[in-house]
Parts: sequence; C-alpha cells; structure tokens
Amino acid sequence: MEDAIVCKDIMKTYGEGSNSVQALRGVSLTVPSGTLQLLMGPSGSGKTTLISIMAGILTADSGSCSVLGTNLKEVSDKEKTQFRGKNIGFLFQAFNLIPSLTIEDNIIIPLLLNGVARKEAIERAKALLAEFGLGDKVGKMPSELSGGQEQRVAIARALAHTPQLIVCDEPTSFLDHHTGMKIMELLQNMVKTSKVTLIVVTHDPRITQFADNIKYLDDGLIVEKS
Ligand SMILES: Nc1ncnc2c1ncn2[C@@H]1O[C@H](COP(=O)(O)OP(=O)(O)O)[C@@H](O)[C@H]1O
Ligand SMILES: [Mg+2]
Repeated sequence: MEDAIVCKDIMKTYGEGSNSVQALRGVSLTVPSGTLQLLMGPSGSGKTTLISIMAGILTADSGSCSVLGTNLKEVSDKEKTQFRGKNIGFLFQAFNLIPSLTIEDNIIIPLLLNGVARKEAIERAKALLAEFGLGDKVGKMPSELSGGQEQRVAIARALAHTPQLIVCDEPTSFLDHHTGMKIMELLQNMVKTSKVTLIVVTHDPRITQFADNIKYLDDGLIVEKS
C-alpha cells in the first residue's frame, strides 16, 4: 500500500527569542493511503500545527513532508496552492466559513476553483447538504445556523471536490453524540469506498472506534499514549 503522507523529523517554532513557542520538536509520521488516521493529544500539543504543515498551509522549519507523492519543499507556493486546491480538503477548527455567502455558495468554492460549472456545483452542494441532514437550510447564511450545523457545512465544503486527502480538525466538537457518530460513519464510509485518506484531529474518545490508526502528540512530540 502506498503512503499518503510521510513526514520526517518535522520541527516548527512560532515567534522568536523569549516569546517563541516550539510547537513541533521532531515529528515523524507515516499515513498509509486509504486509511483513517486519528491524531490525539492535549490542547497545545501541536496537532493543528502538524496537520497545517501536512496540508501545505504552514511550512515546517526543518524536516520533510511528502504528501500524495509530492515533496512540499520542492514546489513553489503557487504550485502548493494548486496542489492543495485539487487534492486536499481541510476542515478548520474554527470552520472559516465566509459569512457573506450562503451555505451552498460556501460549499461550491473548492468546486469553482477546480473548474466545475456553477450550476453543477450548486447541485453537488445541495446533495451534500441533504446527505448531512441540512437539506432544509439551502439559501441560509452561516450566521443563521447553529454551531453544529455550521460545522457540518464546513465538512461538506472540505469534501465537495472529492479530494484524495481530507484533514479534519476536531470535526465533532460542536456536534451532539448522535450527529457526531453519523458524520464519522459518513467519513469512514468514504475511506472504505473511495481511496481517500482521512486524518482526524480529535479530543473525542467516542471517535477512536472509527480509526485504523491512532497517534498521540504531547508537547510537540509523538508519544506512545497521552
Ligand atoms: N500562530 C501562532 N503563534 C504563536 N504560537 C502558536 C501559534 N499557533 C499555535 N501556537 C502555539 O503552538 C503550540 C501548539 O499549538 P497547536 O498546534 O494549535 O496545538 P493543538 O492543536 O494541539 O491545540 C501551542 O503552544 C500554541 O499556543
Ligand atoms: Mg488545535
């Protein structure tokens, strides 16, 4: 089986001098293609930093990260942006929905960026909303939704362009138990039926049952168990 992600000895420090924070202190991690990888660990352990580097949103200070066969260090910023737009779906911890757009217009962003016609993109967005139990919310603005509903819209946006790699930062944090399990089943199903690789950062112990592998981060290092 090919590896979707091979990270070696990743280091990342924020800031400089006495205010600096060493977020990652030499992290190596391999994720096989077509698996659901959980990343767990306490707040501040470096989870978001690590997945941001994997997704090409942040750059590591040192070490290397190969994603879907592309070494992120060997491509220009422009190529990285294109690569990410085509191949990676990212669910941000804070959702990052665009408040001035309807929810379906948020979901179609990655589709439009990949050259899908607007009409077709909207159809796809509506189908995703229905799948996520939000079929009756078409036309609404993010501010008209609950936190849990917004989170599902953000997940739909991360999946819309059928990326090969999906990275979710705390995907169930705003969801009740039932909805959270439903969403995880849906994500797990995608991993099983298509060849996508899914990386999920979570605090939520209820999610561990869905994982093929679990890694624990603590204070910027992979540890045996937190
Ligand atoms: N933009 C930033 N500037 C400065 N420090 C940051 C920044 N982002 C994260 N950190 C710090 O880096 C460490 C790891 O953060 P993060 O990757 O967000 O951890 P987690 O997602 O596990 O909570 C924490 O100490 C955090 O305060
Ligand atoms: Mg985080």
